[in-house]
Amino acid sequence: MLLAILGACHVRDTVMTPSSILIVGATSAIAEQTALALVGRCKQFVLAARNQERLSAVATLLGVRGATVHTLAYDAEHMQEVDLLAQARQVLGGELPDAVLIAHAVLPRHEEVVHDPILAHRVLEINTVSVLTLCTAVCRHFEERGRGTLAVISSVAADRGRVNNFLYAASKAALDVYLDGVRLRWKLRSSHLRVLTIKPGYVRTPMTAHVERMLFPATPERVGAAIARLIAGHRDGRRYIPWWWRPIMAIARLLPDRAMLYVKH
Ligand SMILES: NC(=O)c1ccc[n+]([C@@H]2O[C@H](COP(=O)([O-])OP(=O)(O)OC[C@H]3O[C@@H](n4cnc5c(N)ncnc54)[C@H](OP(=O)(O)O)[C@@H]3O)[C@@H](O)[C@H]2O)c1
Repeated sequence: MLLAILGACHVRDTVMTPSSILIVGATSAIAEQTALALVGRCKQFVLAARNQERLSAVATLLGVRGATVHTLAYDAEHMQEVDLLAQARQVLGGELPDAVLIAHAVLPRHEEVVHDPILAHRVLEINTVSVLTLCTAVCRHFEERGRGTLAVISSVAADRGRVNNFLYAASKAALDVYLDGVRLRWKLRSSHLRVLTIKPGYVRTPMTAHVERMLFPATPERVGAAIARLIAGHRDGRRYIPWWWRPIMAIARLLPDRAMLYVKH
């Protein structure tokens, strides 16, 4: 009996492990570590990013570890007309990738963005509009095929507005709500369609280089390994990394505004 259950779990994991993945924002420190942790489990990588020099470096790192790697140019501010999924299918010889990970974003200095509508618009364009536009294309392609894993990096910051960084938090909160909806839609359609909303806490990466005080920062290696396990596994839903951010943010959501006045991190 136990062996039968273990066998069933194994089959499910095997079915979900992607053999190809499109990673958008592949030069991000977290995405790079995720890709490295997926080598061996995933055979083909399509890496899309803006900085071609960094992109080649990441592609070389994966290549020397035995992965087959393709690269695509992607700038979140200039891609409305481009079907990145179709481009990925082309470089993969006519097959859509099994999974898509969307990782790109910017974290502006709060004091710079709080009174600057042009900068605010740019942040929303990169963090929200481009991501939801991509997700819509993924939705269409994956639903037509009937299977696929969509993973998007959001943030614990999306769970509660704070005195600082609330534009960034809002830009991620929109992703959480959208992905909740897609997840419910896909649950009604097929067990082969899966949505992961990935919610890391603080991570030491170039994005947070200007952040002076971080609460319990994790390394990109640890977060990337956790994301790789989620993508190769069978679970879906909002996933906190590390897991204990879930109860912390559940409490944060219950705090009254007067208590939040003192939360500066
Ligand atoms: N670090 C944290 O504490 C933390 C916590 C929670 C969630 N996250 C999320 O994790 C994800 C990865 O961030 P990270 O920490 O790994 O930071 P990162 O290393 O700074 O990566 C950010 C990535 O976004 C890309 N990007 C920015 N603007 C772009 C544009 N217009 N077009 C295309 N790509 C663009 C950057 O590309 P270039 O190299 O071209 O600039 C870079 O690859 C982000 O979604 C972030 O919000 C981070």
